[in-house]
Amino acid sequence: MHGAVFYNKEKSDFLSSAAKVREDNQEEWGNMEKVIVIDFGGQYNQLVARRVRECNVYCEIYSYRTDLAQIKEMNPKGIILTGGPNSCYEADSPAYARELFELGIPVLGLCYGAQLMMHILGGKVEKAPVREYGKIEVFVDGTSPLFAEVGTKTDKAAGAIWDDHKTDDHATICWMSHNDYISKPAPAFAVAAHTADCPVAAAECREKNLYAIQFHPEVLHTQEGTKMLYNFVRGVCGCAGTWRMDSFVENTVKEIREKVGDGKVLLALSGGVDSSVAAGLLSRAIGKQLTCVFVDHGLLRKDEGDEVEAVFGEGGQFDLNFIRVNAQERYYGKLAGVTEPEQKRKIIGEEFIRVFEEEAKKIGAVDFLAQGTIYPDVVESGLGGESAVIKSHHNVGGLPEYVDFKEIVEPLRDLFKDEVRKAGLALGIPEKLVFRQPFPGPGLGIRIIGEVTADKVRIVQDADAIYREEVDKAAASYAKEHGVPAPWKPDQYFAALTNMRSVGVMGDERTYDYAVALRAVKTVDFMTAESAEIPFEILQKVMSRVINEVRGVNRVFYDLTSKPPGTIEFE
Ligand code: XMP
Repeated sequence: MHGAVFYNKEKSDFLSSAAKVREDNQEEWGNMEKVIVIDFGGQYNQLVARRVRECNVYCEIYSYRTDLAQIKEMNPKGIILTGGPNSCYEADSPAYARELFELGIPVLGLCYGAQLMMHILGGKVEKAPVREYGKIEVFVDGTSPLFAEVGTKTDKAAGAIWDDHKTDDHATICWMSHNDYISKPAPAFAVAAHTADCPVAAAECREKNLYAIQFHPEVLHTQEGTKMLYNFVRGVCGCAGTWRMDSFVENTVKEIREKVGDGKVLLALSGGVDSSVAAGLLSRAIGKQLTCVFVDHGLLRKDEGDEVEAVFGEGGQFDLNFIRVNAQERYYGKLAGVTEPEQKRKIIGEEFIRVFEEEAKKIGAVDFLAQGTIYPDVVESGLGGESAVIKSHHNVGGLPEYVDFKEIVEPLRDLFKDEVRKAGLALGIPEKLVFRQPFPGPGLGIRIIGEVTADKVRIVQDADAIYREEVDKAAASYAKEHGVPAPWKPDQYFAALTNMRSVGVMGDERTYDYAVALRAVKTVDFMTAESAEIPFEILQKVMSRVINEVRGVNRVFYDLTSKPPGTIEFE
């Protein structure tokens, strides 16, 4: 019942599949097991929902502005209040109706959410004498349902802070980041955790299933955070854990069939993870009623166009109509003489729309346009939670205007990226495609500084292929030898072509060739990044292979710049 989403062109309202179920069938939606995250603007709101889903419990994010009546109607098994940047005792800070805590539904408050819960229910929150930030040792009460099997037993904290009830002290490392603190829990609440500086790191009212924790169980620095969230959703809330990727695939396939009927669906397939998984799902559901248009703009990585065709084209594993448009020459023509990065991006984006539009005209009217929108896109565009991050990298944003269709179908709209990957594996899409690195829409066009030419594309494709091959090989052998991933293994790595030519010597001959730059970053969210410390001998091997094997290159640089001030891509 999760998955597909339908966009009604007339009404212009996007509905998530879960919301669609809610609209069409109140009873089914009401019975669906789910936990609701109420977002107070914290930076980890999406992480909270992801972690809950890792416990096999479906979870959606709503802004704190969402009505209590609406929350009640969703009939959640539990509610989680996120962190946020404000002080709950200030007049204009985000708040929530007290009745939320009187619904009989378990509530877990995190950081700001915890403080707010205490504040509303009569506890005391004030500016902390000592600001806690980072990994902190927390002493939890092992008898608390929230902390079942958390931490290691210790007598370090015995008797020091707990008020009057019997506890079983366990120590564990948690991530703290707060200026305010709970100086006094609300009446009927007992202290369930503390630290050296924080007398109430957690408070609980077991009878009412209300829990407040000052730290962040959703971030991985909290060593047993997932266990705590598991204890809440599976233990306290009593969720059975029915959210599974194989059932997602099954349900979505069924749902797409019902909605699409014998209609025709058009999808712009980029070969990226999201559009590939969307294609796989749609093909499983409706076979040849799906047409995928794959535009090879000549700015893909080496052999990528053929790899996409091998999976989705004729003779591949999926039943669908696959149209590959070889638009390489057309793009190179448009890009000739253009050096300004934004102009290059614009040309690449516009040309995509033009090519797609031409293909769409040949196909004629379709009933549905499919898109690979995923849940973070929905939340970030302000439709889900509170934080309105502006997405600057929209690749096929303008498409709907140019295609004659009635509705949009977005089968991945409820999924996080890691869930999209799991769905991809469940559909049998090759791992190479499912675990692809992020690749920008404008492709190599923004990894070639200055003018793009077919020859420069060849250089950067070949250098990049060598670089990725060597890094992958070295990372795999490290993991095999040590049993853990290499600490330097980058989250994104690629070669770019600088616009610099310099003098070199090869054999007895003077050369005047290009310099390739190698980029590799460690990052969690791609908003900030550090240059990865790839061992020198790996870099040297890459350098020597690139210079020997790629004609037109006589120098190789390694980019040490972090983001900020640099960006990950070069343009
Ligand atoms: P920057 O260069 O902004 O990149 O530090 C951050 C992440 O976004 C990717 N990126 C793009 N992705 N279209 C995309 O789909 C784009 O135009 C684009 N520009 C950058 C980049 O690869 C990195 O993962």
